[in-house]
Amino acid sequence: MSSSSSTAAERDFKREFLKIFFVLFGVLLICLALFFVNHHENNKYIIKTLQLNGSAEEGDALFKINCVGCHGITARGLVGPDLHSITQRLNDKEIIKQVTGGLTPPMPSFEIDPVNMSNLLKYLHSLE
Ligand code: HEC
Repeated sequence: MSSSSSTAAERDFKREFLKIFFVLFGVLLICLALFFVNHHENNKYIIKTLQLNGSAEEGDALFKINCVGCHGITARGLVGPDLHSITQRLNDKEIIKQVTGGLTPPMPSFEIDPVNMSNLLKYLHSLE
């Protein structure tokens, strides 16, 4: 009697364990799927931006609105670093990640469409 009730408890435990296992597995799969979709969207954004040939003047205007508060009116640095030789130190993809990623506070992440991102890149290249 006591041995049969313990196997029932064991079966219950197994069932619970499997339930939890599959829920966690499902959550993991969803996370992976979201990660790949996000990665794919980021790549599409970068490819689209790099295909465009932006305007340095438009980029300059954009810089004056969004970036001078921290990088200075002539991009010589203030709170944020001097950006004059930035295109020698970082490639375009890295600069896009810096501007859109929000990975280095206090610099915020900017939601910026590919055309304007391309303009900004052109402006940063013109600083050399
Ligand atoms: C709130 C302040 C702030 C604003 C606004 C800001 N930045 Fe920054 N930025 C920083 C800081 C601080 C860093 C240094 C981050 C670090 O490396 O820790 C930085 C770093 C960078 C870098 C990398 C520099 C390097 O030497 O690696 C680039 C490129 C850059 N910013 C571009 C921009 C552009 C373009 C804009 C406008 C769209 C902008 N930033 C707006 C504060 C700011």
